[in-house]
Amino acid sequence: MNFQLTEEHLAVQSAARDFAQNECLPGVIERDETQSHPTAQVKQLAELGLLGMMVSPKYGGGGMDTVSYVLAIEEISKIDASLGVIMSVNNSLVCWGLETYGNEEQKNKYLPALAKGEMIGAFCLSEPEAGSDATSQRTTAEDKGDYYLLNGTKNWITNGGHAGVYMVIAQTDREKGHRGINALIVERDWEGVMVGAKENKLGIRGSDTHTIMFNDVKVPKENRIGADGFGFKFAMSTLDGGRIGIASQALGIASGAYELALAYSKERKAFGKPICKHQAIQFKLADMATDIEAARLLCLKAANLKDKHVSYSKAAAMAKVFASEVAMRTTVEAVQVHGGYGFVKEYHVERLMRDAKITQIYEGTSEIQRMVIARSILR
Ligand code: CAA
Repeated sequence: MNFQLTEEHLAVQSAARDFAQNECLPGVIERDETQSHPTAQVKQLAELGLLGMMVSPKYGGGGMDTVSYVLAIEEISKIDASLGVIMSVNNSLVCWGLETYGNEEQKNKYLPALAKGEMIGAFCLSEPEAGSDATSQRTTAEDKGDYYLLNGTKNWITNGGHAGVYMVIAQTDREKGHRGINALIVERDWEGVMVGAKENKLGIRGSDTHTIMFNDVKVPKENRIGADGFGFKFAMSTLDGGRIGIASQALGIASGAYELALAYSKERKAFGKPICKHQAIQFKLADMATDIEAARLLCLKAANLKDKHVSYSKAAAMAKVFASEVAMRTTVEAVQVHGGYGFVKEYHVERLMRDAKITQIYEGTSEIQRMVIARSILR
């Protein structure tokens, strides 16, 4: 086992850290308050090659490994967790799924723009009545010969308002259960695609979350990913990698809050000494640091398995459930260390606490992750 990062990993980590500090920190409070999309920063992420990090250079990507991806998302999410999820969805749920399961024509047509960040993508699985129970899709993709007729509504779609392309999961043959589900590449400009209102959220308020409606959208057969009925497995397999991204986002939220609490505890004095000299605060800092280290190791382990093409479904679920719970615990404690200052916006920790919650919900709730882990243990 080698716990040391390579020179390349350290370079990616340092570039992401510099970018987050210099370009994402200014304005992050305002973007959160006004629910503004970090459009300029997304463009810069694209220029840094961080929107298609793992895509092969053949299709315009960075050709980096998943470990680099974890490191970059952690650094960016420390400062702006909204950017963390924008990155995660485009890299994992859109680019990776397309590169892994798309055919050559689909990859040549869509992947270069997505990998270079000239266009971003969104992943449309959740529905008003199908979140955790992903086989219960109500959206239909009726087989019409040389095209599918797509009808339905997708909820909670990250990047929904800014995406140029949607990976849509829809039911073609209800009687076949999960084997009757297809994954379709749908362009935003096609007739019948409608972007609904933006959600007003508790956290990650910079990332735009929308309802997307499909009304008699004609999707050419050549835009189906994989064989007929492969859509559910496509979604599950893609989400395994997505969970590594969200675990890394949660890790970044936790480590960002911890670093702020640590720095504050060295400056703030109470009872004649910096509060970090009080055992009550030391215990909190020690617990946070230990939790974060364990979460980081789980993220890196899942990434390493994925890079080695070894089964990583359980490892990704473990990383996500643990890192998201660490994000919640750590951010609550970071607010506590800051006392009253933690409750006001300029100290950043209250935002990180709000941002943390979604990591226990999207790309599979904590309960779903435990289900995936238990099934793997009991198999
Ligand atoms: N990879 C490949 N195939 C898989 C798989 C995986 N990880 N997991 C399951 N499958 C296959 C199974 O092998 C099975 O195939 P066979 O019948 O041929 O053997 C098939 O899929 C069905 O599997 P299950 O019976 O296990 O399916 P299930 O209905 O019991 O569901 C579940 C399992 C884990 C609960 C799944 O529904 C799930 O993960 N739900 C959560 C969905 C989710 O994460 N939603 C988040 C929305 S996306 C999002 O949040 C994006 C965003 O914008 C941020």
